Amino acid sequence: MISTNAVWAKARELLETLARDHELPLEGYRALVEAYAPETAAYAAELAVPLRQAVYGKAVFVRGLIELSSYCKNDCLYCGIRRSNASAERYRLTPEQILDCCERGHEMGFRTFVLQGGEDPTLADEAVSDLLHAIKGRYPDCAVTLSLGERSRESYQALFDAGADRYLLRHETADAAHYARLHPRSMSFEHRMQCLRNLKEIGYQVGCGFMVGSPWQTPETLAKDLKFIEELRPAMCGIGPFVPHHATPFAEREAGTVGLTCYLLSLLRLIDPTLNIPATTALGTIDPRGREKGIQAGANVVMPNLSPRDVRKKYELYDNKICTGEEAAECRGCLARRMESIGYRVVVDRGDARQPALSRTKPVCANYGDGTRGGDQEYHQPI
Ligand code: 5AD
Ligand code: FES
Repeated sequence: MISTNAVWAKARELLETLARDHELPLEGYRALVEAYAPETAAYAAELAVPLRQAVYGKAVFVRGLIELSSYCKNDCLYCGIRRSNASAERYRLTPEQILDCCERGHEMGFRTFVLQGGEDPTLADEAVSDLLHAIKGRYPDCAVTLSLGERSRESYQALFDAGADRYLLRHETADAAHYARLHPRSMSFEHRMQCLRNLKEIGYQVGCGFMVGSPWQTPETLAKDLKFIEELRPAMCGIGPFVPHHATPFAEREAGTVGLTCYLLSLLRLIDPTLNIPATTALGTIDPRGREKGIQAGANVVMPNLSPRDVRKKYELYDNKICTGEEAAECRGCLARRMESIGYRVVVDRGDARQPALSRTKPVCANYGDGTRGGDQEYHQPI
């Protein structure tokens, strides 16, 4: 039998290698996931935080999340707005409502708007392009992130040409068999991966990600997720715990844990010190201090909700989602205080990904050689 000490010594060594080289073989990731324990997670965070610090200092980027539509043609087994959920109340924001959200968000210091929605067939290229032109015309200092699911390459290109800067499309799991158990037959792992490749080729800052603790997830599937992220080199990666939704086939499943999610956040930071990593709302949902813990594990982004208050409850991907009763300004203030309480500060900044990402052969340094970024420099205006 391998002793606990031997596992711990091996995990330490792997973490130190990852912090230095930013890559591991698949087996190394698997061993790290299997070695998950409070001490391993504490050591991972100890290595991850200085890397985060060297790139982003104590700054936390904010993104204003606008949930455009809760209509969705897909039927992902975990998701509360899946097509089969007849009890979900559906809504769609008008362009005027969306521009109102942006206006209030801009006044509050948001310089990134994330337009997220279900796969709503009415969100056709032309409608989204018009919206992008309107937002970019009014707020040329802002970045726009889209998170509208799978679309054709032509569609992604058209939206990029209309001004979209970034695209979030979580891969959900990098294991094809696992993907097939989380999704209906009409969805395919290959197509999801092709979408991510297309987005990258077109020139978007791309975000992928997965849920922690989803049904049938194993150390093996998680190791594949980490290896996939190492290889894809996305600009952003969103991970949060799986949280069951009462009207889905996974209603009775266990939620993911804060501990494992934070450990994986630290591993992501070790894989890429420049990665934009959010401390997600789902993490804040399963633990009242989840987002603070996520930042302390190595995350550098928070995404408060800018959607109109009357629709928030309807964008219920999982049960007990937080911030459905608050106004945008309340969430922004709340998050600023939360970040201050742990010695970080929310900043007014587009928060672009620092690409090209670090070279594997050179040590990570505090700036990118272009004078724009230094860990402890006061380059941001605090909110
Ligand atoms: N629990 C946690 N996250 C979820 N998502 C969807 N449903 C759930 C759930 N029940 C995540 C998915 C999706 C993102 C928008 O929200 O990863 O990509
Ligand atoms: Fe929404 Fe705290 S962030 S209430």
